Amino acid sequence: QKLLPDQYQLRSLGSNDFARGHLDVLSVLTQTGTHTYHDWLDQFQYMQSHADTYFSIVIEDQALDRVVAVGTLFVERKFVHDNGRVGHIEDIAVANDQQGQRLGLRVIQALQYIGRQQGCYKIILDCATKNIPFYEKCGFQQKESQMVMYT
Ligand code: ACO
Repeated sequence: QKLLPDQYQLRSLGSNDFARGHLDVLSVLTQTGTHTYHDWLDQFQYMQSHADTYFSIVIEDQALDRVVAVGTLFVERKFVHDNGRVGHIEDIAVANDQQGQRLGLRVIQALQYIGRQQGCYKIILDCATKNIPFYEKCGFQQKESQMVMYT
């Protein structure tokens, strides 16, 4: 079985992905805001200059020149666990018309691989209850509770 459909490529987020609909895919998840390309590039360049902390990846449909799936691993450095590192999986989204082709699974598998390569002793994430079965399929298990305070 092929890992990705033909003409799809999994790679790091690139500076041209704004034009390929990076934020359109993220808008499946939540409100993205009203970015100009300059606003988007600001954040992209910050992440590039902290490339040992932010690992943003995309799946691109190369035939359509369009981003179809996105995700980020944020690597947190800690004192505990002998200056250990924890990977946080954030902002996973697959375009509405592309869901159900295992693109989400491939994004998560790639981020898990990066997390292991970066020496993370664990990888964690927050998700809606309805997404628990998806993350279980990706190898995660439920643990404790999530809390939030909007500021
Ligand atoms: N309930 C049960 N099973 C599910 C669900 C679900 N809601 N979603 C996926 N699965 C299963 C699939 O059937 C598949 O199982 P299989 O391997 O036995 O065939 C497996 O999980 C992998 O599914 P994918 O095809 O990889 O899922 P998809 O590409 O559609 O991506 C995702 C899943 C990311 C949740 C997508 O539906 C999406 O973008 N949703 C909207 C945005 C969102 O909620 N993102 C997650 C936010 S949480 C976070 O970012 C940390």
